[in-house]
Amino acid sequence: MTRKKSDPTHQLLAAALKARKHAYAPYSNHRVGAAVLTSSGKVYSSGNVENCCYALTICAERGALYHAVAAGEHRFKALAVTNGSGDFVVPCGVCRQVIWELAGDIPITMFNKSRRSRTVPLSVLYPLPYKKKSKRRLLKHRMKRA
Ligand code: THU
Repeated sequence: MTRKKSDPTHQLLAAALKARKHAYAPYSNHRVGAAVLTSSGKVYSSGNVENCCYALTICAERGALYHAVAAGEHRFKALAVTNGSGDFVVPCGVCRQVIWELAGDIPITMFNKSRRSRTVPLSVLYPLPYKKKSKRRLLKHRMKRA
């Protein structure tokens, strides 16, 4: 698919590819980059960051979202993720739960190395999320502290 430079998905792919360059993946050699778009139009990104204690690894998607939340962002419009393989990279289960918690049912665009993409809403990847509070109450809580 050809995309215009003004297309936010193009912007997200460019940011994800740049972040992928800084991925730290000495154990899997699987470098991933992700980027999120905020409602105000800002883009935050991250590569995956591994640890020799494997469970401490942070995937690119969570890195990008945590980066944005740490900068004070509350509302998100879209997330994109890319890797260096022929297959589309699909967010893992942990990331699906975190995306749900922080961003809700946003579109997720998955790219492969040929820049082919597939976009699905998070609710397709994660139809029955674990939740304790409604999205409205979570957002209210976050906005109160802003
Ligand atoms: N990984 C991501 O960063 N995002 C995904 O969507 C899938 C997996 C990372 C975690 C680990 O560093 C490496 O890819 C291999 O699983």
